[in-house]
Amino acid sequence: MAKEALPLPDAYALLEPGPVVLLSTAHKGKPNIMTMSWHTMMEFEPPLVGCVVSGNNFTFRALSATQQCVINIPTVELSSQVVDCGNTSGSTVDKFEAFGLTPMDAELVEAPLIAECYANLECRIADDQLTGRYNFFVLEVVKAWIDRSNDNPRTIHHRGYGTFMVAGETIKLPSKMR
Ligand SMILES: Cc1cc2nc3c(=O)[nH]c(=O)nc-3n(C[C@H](O)[C@H](O)[C@H](O)COP(=O)(O)O)c2cc1C
Repeated sequence: MAKEALPLPDAYALLEPGPVVLLSTAHKGKPNIMTMSWHTMMEFEPPLVGCVVSGNNFTFRALSATQQCVINIPTVELSSQVVDCGNTSGSTVDKFEAFGLTPMDAELVEAPLIAECYANLECRIADDQLTGRYNFFVLEVVKAWIDRSNDNPRTIHHRGYGTFMVAGETIKLPSKMR
């Protein structure tokens, strides 16, 4: 197999960890949405999710101040809103209004669910010890919602530089992992 050197900043695109998600927050009565692909599962129960939120993002301030957020999982039908929420800042744009997304009350956190997303995970910060060093937050999922009528959610996966992979074929294998 002939290989060439890959620029180091492009390594992340080979290890994309899961679907692109929309992180919603609410701070001082202002709801906001940020697109996020740098997240990882860390534990089954309680479910822990690690994620990197840049300190330059409006979301960083809201999440740090409120300690709460919702991870909303969109499908390919929402791709243009996903990109729009990643290309704009809540400091200047009301993204729910601008991109036609609907906020819904969550049960256990102040941050809103995004109605159009097929699943929503209400989260509280469980650990911020690595936030100062890496902008890394460990979130605990305290409530989870799913639209079971969608039995083939076609999530989108970031490959870098405006390239996305859409979830497709499902295969069954004899894996023992839950
Ligand atoms: C596909 C995609 C994935 C992204 N992933 C992340 C991420 O994991 N962490 C992050 O801090 N920003 C990420 N961003 C950038 C933020 O979404 C972007 O900076 C956004 O404008 C922040 O919004 P805010 O200022 O309202 O918080 C991503 C953007 C896109 C388009």
